[in-house]
Amino acid sequence: MIDFNHVTKVFNEDIKAVNDISFHVPEGNIVVFLGPSGCGKTTTLRMVNRLESITEGTISVNGNHVNDLNPIELRRNIGYVIQHNGLFPNMTIEQNVMAVPDLLGWDRKKKKDRFHYLMDLVGLNPDEFRKRYPHELSGGQQQRIGIIRAMAADPPVMLMDEPFGALDPIIRSHIQNEFLQIQEEVQKTILFVSHDIDEAIKMGDKVAIFRDGSLMQYDAPDEILAHPTNDFVRKFVGKDRALKSLSLHSVQDLVNEQSLMQASETGKHRKTVFIDTNLKDALSILLNQEAEQLVIQSEEKTIGALTIHDIETYLHEKIM
Ligand SMILES: Nc1ncnc2c1ncn2[C@@H]1O[C@H](COP(=O)(O)OP(=O)(O)OP(=O)(O)O)[C@@H](O)[C@H]1O
Ligand SMILES: [Mg+2]
Repeated sequence: MIDFNHVTKVFNEDIKAVNDISFHVPEGNIVVFLGPSGCGKTTTLRMVNRLESITEGTISVNGNHVNDLNPIELRRNIGYVIQHNGLFPNMTIEQNVMAVPDLLGWDRKKKKDRFHYLMDLVGLNPDEFRKRYPHELSGGQQQRIGIIRAMAADPPVMLMDEPFGALDPIIRSHIQNEFLQIQEEVQKTILFVSHDIDEAIKMGDKVAIFRDGSLMQYDAPDEILAHPTNDFVRKFVGKDRALKSLSLHSVQDLVNEQSLMQASETGKHRKTVFIDTNLKDALSILLNQEAEQLVIQSEEKTIGALTIHDIETYLHEKIM
């Protein structure tokens, strides 16, 4: 869907912000750009919708080189969530969200319905916020408006530059989940910038790790956690990468790999979990001593029980 082919960006003749990167983004995937400040994430994003020119190489969307496309047309088909939200300060919230539909000449009813739908999606009351200006909203609220503004005309491609950066952890996690749920339905192709390895693992079908404008590794999250290609990536994903990768596996995976003991009345302190619980959550219940044994349930049926030992074995055999 989106192809980067030996793309380089040089600013002012000597600042190499992006250095010969090549990778393919399949349709319907979320690819997360991850890396330290100044490593070229925003610049890479902005070359896709031609807000920055490409110094060398090509970027194509759906087989068309972006340099051959009309920039205005291109930007209408690509939603862009700007880092630090970038709302138009002199426009109301409704005008901000409906900016692209306005350009596209949508009728009043269609715009109104869409505004309501999008505001509901991010948990903001449309009537309460419609007439306010961006400075009358909190940082987190502004960021949510920035996200739905980019989604307004339902573009097939979205560029999202640290879209959840200003949200507190609870709202952030909630919006991440909502966003993944919506994505299952809408299957957009998304380039998503993040500073946060946990967010990258959660959101990304693939993760691109940048350093000083170069691409260090481009892989699925569990591949990056299991096999970092070099020391930089290893340090960046952190010492607890084995634990992190537990969040990508569920109790179901473990059941498929190991035969578990029957849930028995051994007098152990037990707790029931569903089969789709991720292994990180399962482990945390066991470690916090909320239970010594987890009883696994699938569609009303108990299918076995597991202890810390089972998760340990799985970690060593499958993940490390
Ligand atoms: N318009 C510009 N003119 C000159 N240099 C620039 C320009 N924009 C970015 N740069 C430089 O290019 C490099 C990459 O910047 P970029 O904004 O892409 O980084 P980033 O990975 O998005 O960082 P952050 O995580 O802080 O947002 C930096 O060294 C930056 O100073
Ligand atoms: Mg940036």
